[in-house]
Amino acid sequence: MKALVYHGPGKKAWEEVPDAAIQEPTDVVVQVDTTTICGTDLHILQGDVAAVTEGRILGHEAVGTVTEVGEAVTGFAAGDRVLVPAITKCGRCAYCQRGMPSHCQTVGGIGWIFGHLIDGTQAETVRVPYADTSLYAVPDGVTNEQAIFLADSLPTGYEVGVLAGQVRPGDTVAVVGAGAVGLSAILTTGLWGASKVIAVDTNKFRLTKALEFGATDVVEVGPATVAEVIALTDGLGVDVSIEAVGYPETLLTAASLVRPGGSIANIGVHGTPVELPMQDMWIQNVTLTMGLVDTVSIPTLLKMVASGRIPAEKMGTHSFTFDQMDEAYDVFKNAAANSALKVVITPA
Ligand SMILES: NC(=O)c1ccc[n+]([C@@H]2O[C@H](COP(=O)([O-])OP(=O)(O)OC[C@H]3O[C@@H](n4cnc5c(N)ncnc54)[C@H](O)[C@@H]3O)[C@@H](O)[C@H]2O)c1
Ligand SMILES: [Zn+2]
Ligand SMILES: [Zn+2]
Repeated sequence: MKALVYHGPGKKAWEEVPDAAIQEPTDVVVQVDTTTICGTDLHILQGDVAAVTEGRILGHEAVGTVTEVGEAVTGFAAGDRVLVPAITKCGRCAYCQRGMPSHCQTVGGIGWIFGHLIDGTQAETVRVPYADTSLYAVPDGVTNEQAIFLADSLPTGYEVGVLAGQVRPGDTVAVVGAGAVGLSAILTTGLWGASKVIAVDTNKFRLTKALEFGATDVVEVGPATVAEVIALTDGLGVDVSIEAVGYPETLLTAASLVRPGGSIANIGVHGTPVELPMQDMWIQNVTLTMGLVDTVSIPTLLKMVASGRIPAEKMGTHSFTFDQMDEAYDVFKNAAANSALKVVITPA
């Protein structure tokens, strides 16, 4: 088969590799019908993720068809259309049992293993460990082009942003960073009845998208960002401030927008320390949350997509075939310049 192989910082190739095959009785093999690229894949290609070694097949998001089933697998059969999520889980370890498979001990202490610790989904076929507890059947009413965004970005915005930030009916919410993840938070905030959702970004295209995804107001980043958001909330600040960029300055902005008693939900992956003004924050009764997505909200999100409440397909702006993998990466890497959000990649 062919797959996208990592060959060290800056190097990758769509090339011939051995077919994916069953290794453990709990495995299945999935033929990949749709995949996509995540910002994390770009970080890997820059050499930022040391655990990813040369020769690794990249990618941690897929929708596909089961082709082979290990002898211990009971929940899936050849021919089933399935969603392969970013997080793999055994379902039994202490973290899986408390609903936190992001830290599944059995699969390696971290639930994100595809395109990281084992071969990933940017390939014609992929081996899926712990298939019974990790895969999701895709309902008939949900297309591959919708389901693919439930593998990572939609659950991330929803779980690490909206749920961790405890958005409640009537709340005002700010989302700093309107990329795929921030837009996913915006798209799912409405489920909890937010009265006002303010998108904050440096990029005009992303702000236009934010309005399409359900933001009520947008603020382009500038010298008066914080004052503009505060003015939109009757001078009080927001109930929930979601950070979806991953820079010190954007977390500081998110922290400056919240009112006393509110929540700051950090989603961004940070690469450097952040100095928070604790001398001002300690007296504000605010909560700061952070973490890796568990993808446990996928069943809920699948239902909301099937019923039309979440138009997940809006996330896909560009389509490519497997043999256009390099072009897909180029467009995604320069997403803002290409008016792109997420790319949809299919066999042909
Ligand atoms: N916690 C998790 O489990 C998890 C999972 C997936 C992704 N992430 C992280 O979430 C973050 C967002 O991911 P994404 O895929 O949407 O990234 P993205 O690059 O597509 O989007 C980031 C957005 O932030 C905007 N931005 C850049 N600088 C800004 C600034 N100073 N102020 C306001 N906006 C600014 C960009 O214009 C862009 O729209 C990343 O840090 C990613 O690594 C976290
Ligand atoms: Zn990802
Ligand atoms: Zn586990």
